[in-house]
Formats: sequence, structure tokens, C-alpha cells
Amino acid sequence: MFVYFIIFSCLFFSDLHDFPPDERSPQTVYEGAGATLTCHPPSHYPTLSYRWFFNEFPNFVQTTDGRWFISQVTGNLYIATAEVKDSGNYFCFTTNNMEISTKSVFSRANPLTVLSDAHYHSVVFSLVVFRMICKCGLCTVSGILITINNFLIAQPEWLHVMSDSEVEISSELRWSCASAGKPRPSVRWLRNGQSIINGGLLKISHLALEDSGMYQCVAENKHGTIYSNAELRVQVLAPDFRQNPVRRLVPAARGGQVMMECKPRAAPKPTLFWSRGTELLTNNSRVTVTPDGNLWITNISRADEGKYTCFAENYLGKANSTGHLSVRGMLSPQLPLLLTCNILLHLWERTS
Ligand SMILES: *[C@@H]1O[C@H](CO)[C@@H](O)[C@H](O)[C@H]1NC(C)=O
Ligand SMILES: *[C@@H]1O[C@H](CO)[C@@H](O)[C@H](O)[C@H]1NC(C)=O
Ligand SMILES: *[C@@H]1O[C@H](CO)[C@@H](O)[C@H](O)[C@H]1NC(C)=O
Repeated sequence: MFVYFIIFSCLFFSDLHDFPPDERSPQTVYEGAGATLTCHPPSHYPTLSYRWFFNEFPNFVQTTDGRWFISQVTGNLYIATAEVKDSGNYFCFTTNNMEISTKSVFSRANPLTVLSDAHYHSVVFSLVVFRMICKCGLCTVSGILITINNFLIAQPEWLHVMSDSEVEISSELRWSCASAGKPRPSVRWLRNGQSIINGGLLKISHLALEDSGMYQCVAENKHGTIYSNAELRVQVLAPDFRQNPVRRLVPAARGGQVMMECKPRAAPKPTLFWSRGTELLTNNSRVTVTPDGNLWITNISRADEGKYTCFAENYLGKANSTGHLSVRGMLSPQLPLLLTCNILLHLWERTS
């Protein structure tokens, strides 16, 4: 009993260590800019979920307003358009969810200071009107300051932004963001905080694992800067039918047609082919294998009955999944016999 308890404890409690005790370096950003606070989670198994709290537990950062983003891969906290009130200490709070117990640990403080930028909302035009009043030889000057905001200016705002995506390796990524504002904002892209490209369109033609990360689109004119964040995860996966196997039993009617789907999870896209027993199926007058892997058979006959296997392969591995095609006649063979019996019975009843 005692031994079991120990094993149990080891299995369920010992796979999330504490955060390292090192001090975390303070960060300073200007109002309106973006900031990244890194979590550096301790070693763990299996995966963790991440939250951040601000100044004191349990004042958790709410990510619903879109200004905040917490990566569930790295645990990092991203702030778009920081505000002065965001200054304070941030703690990465991570939880290991096991079936039986959960364990949470949190990091040392990540101090953040947001400086107000007086030029951020710039005034376009200021006018000082002086008035001189002289009374009894004594003159006083008074003035008023009139500021005129030119209504033809506008800070940037988003018309269209990208969102978090999981994309398979080797495929093409096209992300675009568009903004409005006067003067027309310039748009550029950052990956993990580093500038990568100018313009509203981000195109990566042959995605590699290293392209995974946090992307930001930045729109900027002299009246302001706005950020939009999204996370890109590049997937690699050997073909896997566990979530979506070929249908076990596929009924078909004689003379009719049938389609069998082959949809394994795989990245990059696998090559797919079908076989019936040991015979590889290729297009002919009745059989078609579509480019996305579906098998069509038309004008079905009894001879088509049998096991059909879809094979999927990419450079990471291969897998197969099998379904059974069962062909039924338009009329079941018992039916004519049954009809005949009925008619005979009927006739016999009438004659007797
Ligand atoms: C089989 O036919 C389908 C539909 O006509 C076509 O899309 C596909 O490329 C063909 N497959 C082969 C291997 O020729
Ligand atoms: C369907 O198959 C039968 C024989 O199995 C053949 O006689 C008939 O012409 C086929 N019909 C079509 C439309 O291909
Ligand atoms: C089909 O997949 C199974 C594992 O799921 C494997 O054991 C078997 O060898 C595969 N069949 C062929 C013909 O590759």
C-alpha cells in the first residue's frame, strides 16, 4: 500500500519543478508600444497551461480585450499597445493538469515600466492669442491657448488582421493586415519582436519549423502606432488515422455508386493511394481516386465487395486504414420468394 503511494506520488506530483530563483530583468517601454514578457517555464512533463498574474495573486491578466496574449506553447505574455497603468510586476503562473491532481508554480517578478509618451497624441495646430489691456499706464498681457485638432488626421485603426493559426510544414502562409488612418499608416511585420518585412502582406512560401512564433503586424503613422498579434504554429506529423479512420463498413447498392474518404492527419500533406487486397487501385471507367484521396466507385457490382485500404505516406512515416465495402442488391434475394409465397397463400385462401 505504502509502495503504491510512493509510486503514485512520483507519477503525479514530481513532474513540474520550481522556477529558477534568478532575478528577472526589468523592462521599459513607451505607451502604445508592444512588450514581451518571457516565462521560461521550469522543466516539466506533460504540457503545461499558462496564466499570468499582475502584482499580486490571484489578480490574473485577462486576455479577453485583445491587448493581451498568452502563448500556450512558450508561456510568454505579449502586450500590444501598452498603457501607463500596465506598469507593475508580472508573474508567470503555470499549471500541470493531471487527471488526479494539479500542481501550479509561479515565476519571480517580471517588472515592467510603461512610460507615457507625450507626443503620442500629437496636437496638430496650436494658436496663442494675446490680448494687451492697458489701464492707467499699466499694461497686462493675457493670452489663451487655442488648440485646433485637424480632423483630417486620424490614428491608425485596424480594418483587417490575422489570427492564430496552425499550418502544416512546407505549405504556404499568407497573412494580411490592413489599416486605415490619415496620413495613410505604414505597415510592417515583426516575428518574436524582430522586424521582418514591410507592407501589409506576409507571405512565407515554404513553411519550416523555425517559422513558428509570435507575429505582430504594426501600423504606424505620425499620430499613433497599433499592434496586432497572432501566433503561428508550424505542424509536422506522420500520417495518423486514429482520429479519422476509413469508415469500417461502407454499404453500397448494386448499380449505384459509393465514395470512401481517406483523411488522415498529416503534415506535410501525404501521398495517398488505395488498394483492394493486394491490388493497387488506379483510375478506370468505374474507379476514380481524386487528388484529395477519396475513392469513388460507380456502377457497383457484387464483385466490388471486399476490403479497401487507404495508404498514406509522407517523409515522416506511413499509415494505413481499411474499410469493408458491402454490396446489397436492389431487392433482397428473399423478397421474390416471399412474394411468391404470399400470392400462393392468397390464392389458396380464395379457392378454399
Ligand atoms: C483520377 O481521376 C481524377 C478525376 O478525373 C483526377 O483528378 C486524378 O488526377 C486522376 N488520378 C490519376 C492518378 O490519374
Ligand atoms: C454497369 O455494369 C454492367 C456490368 O457489370 C454493364 O453491363 C453496364 O453497361 C454498366 N453500366 C454503366 C452505365 O457503365
Ligand atoms: C498497415 O498498418 C499496420 C499498423 O497500423 C501495419 O502493421 C501494417 O503492416 C500496415 N500494412 C501495410 C501493408 O503496410
